[in-house]
Amino acid sequence: MRISVIGAGYVGLVTAAALASKGHNVIVVDIDETRVSMISQKKSPIFEEGLDDMLSDCIESNRIRAIGDCEGILATEITLICVGTPSNPDGSMNLNYIKASAGDIGRMLSTKSERHTVVVRSTVIPGTTKGIIIPILEQNSGKKANVDFDVAVNPEFLQEGKALHGFFNPDRIIIGEEEQRAGDMVQKLYEGIAAPVIRMGLTTAEMIKFTSNAFLATKISFINDIGNICRRLGVDVYDVVKGVGLDYRIGEHFLSAGIGFGGSCLPKDVKGLVHSSRDLGYQPLVLESVLEVNKNQILNMLQMVEEKLGNLEGKTICVLGLAFKPDTDDIRNAPALEIIRLLIEKRAMVKTYDPLAIPNAKKVLPEKVIYCNDAKEAVNNCDCILVLTEWDEFRDESLYRGKVVFDGRRILEPKRVGMMCDYQGICW
Ligand code: UGA
Repeated sequence: MRISVIGAGYVGLVTAAALASKGHNVIVVDIDETRVSMISQKKSPIFEEGLDDMLSDCIESNRIRAIGDCEGILATEITLICVGTPSNPDGSMNLNYIKASAGDIGRMLSTKSERHTVVVRSTVIPGTTKGIIIPILEQNSGKKANVDFDVAVNPEFLQEGKALHGFFNPDRIIIGEEEQRAGDMVQKLYEGIAAPVIRMGLTTAEMIKFTSNAFLATKISFINDIGNICRRLGVDVYDVVKGVGLDYRIGEHFLSAGIGFGGSCLPKDVKGLVHSSRDLGYQPLVLESVLEVNKNQILNMLQMVEEKLGNLEGKTICVLGLAFKPDTDDIRNAPALEIIRLLIEKRAMVKTYDPLAIPNAKKVLPEKVIYCNDAKEAVNNCDCILVLTEWDEFRDESLYRGKVVFDGRRILEPKRVGMMCDYQGICW
C-alpha cells in the first residue's frame, strides 16, 4: 500500500518503519526539518531499540522517505495521523497539532481525485475524531466523510523500549470506523500480523485507548497505595503481589510498586480523561486518586530521605536514573526530574547518572546538577543514593556497599542487601 504518516515522533516513526519493513511504501511527513534530515540520513531522531537499523534498511530499499510538507500525501492512498497531543497546563489535551494536520490533509484532499482514507492514530479524547477532526477535514476539502473519503481510528498500544516488538506482536488491533470500507483499509495495513482484530465505532475505539492507559495507571497507583500500607506493617508488597497475582482475575503484570508512573502517555492521558470527564459533568474519583497517589510517591520518598538525613541543605544526594523507565532516553514526566527539582529547592547537592538520558535532562534541569560518567562515579562520596530508574547496570550490588540507599524501583533484593547497606524500599 502507499501510506503517508504525519508526525515523526515515537508513534509515527515506529509505525512508519514497521509498515515499510512489511513491504508498504511509506512517506513520513514532519514539520521539524532536523527530524526530516536525520531520517533521510538513515538516523532515527528518537532512541528506540532496533529502529535505527530498520529505518536504514527501509530507506536503502526506497520503501520509506521523509519530507517536510503535506503534499506527499497526494501520492498515497491512506494517511495515518500520528502527531502529539500534549497536556495543556490545566490537564486538558492540546489538540493544536491534530487540528493543524487535519487542516493540511483536508486541503490536500480538495485537489485529489483518488479516494483517500484518513486514520487517527494519535491519542485523542473520545469524540474528537467525530466532533473535531471530521468537520475540519470536510471544511478544508469541500468533500464529505464516508462519501468522498474515509475516516478510521486505529489507536496504538506500543510501549517505549519495546515498540517494534509490540507492533509486530500486538495483543489486539483496534479499528474504529463509520463505514466498513475505512476499517477494511486499516485492516489491510496489518495483513500477516496475528492478533485479534476488533472493529467498532470511532468514539469507542478512542475510549479503548484511554481506558487501557487509565487502567494501567490505576494498577500502578493501586499497588503503590497497598505498598505504602505494607511498608508500615513491615510486609513486602512484592511478596503480596506473588500471592495475589496468581488469581487469574487479577494477574501479576503492572503491579511493580515504586516511585510511580511517568512518561509521555500515562500521566497525560489520565489527566486528559479526568479533565474531559469533568467537562461532561462527572467527577472521576478513582482517576483523580490515581494521579494523587502518583504525585505523593515522590513526596513520600523525599520524606524518607529527610527522616534519615535531617535538613538536606549541603547534603550530597546521588540520583541513579533519570529516564521515566529503562531502555529509553525519554525523561518526560520522569519521577527523577521532579525529585531532583525538590532536592535542589531544599539546597541539597545532586549528583546523577543515567546511561542514556543525561543529554535530555541537561536541557531541563537546574544548572547546579552534577552529571557523572558512570554509576560508580555518581555513588562516590554521597550522603545517600536514590534509585529512580531500574537500569540493569544499577543492579550491581557492589555500588551500594556501606551506603544509605532509597530504592524507588526494587532494583535490589531487600533480603540480600540488608546486611551490606542501609537500605529502604519506598513501598517495602
Ligand atoms: C504506555 C502504555 O503501556 C502503552 O500500552 C501505550 O501505548 C503508551 O503508554 C502510549 O499511550 O503511547 P509507555 O509510556 O511506553 O507505555 O510506558 P509503560 O511501560 O506503560 O510505563 C509507564 C510508567 O509506569 C513508567 O514510568 C514505569 O516505570 C511505570 N510502571 C510500569 C510502574 O511504576 N510499575 C509497573 O508495574 C509498570
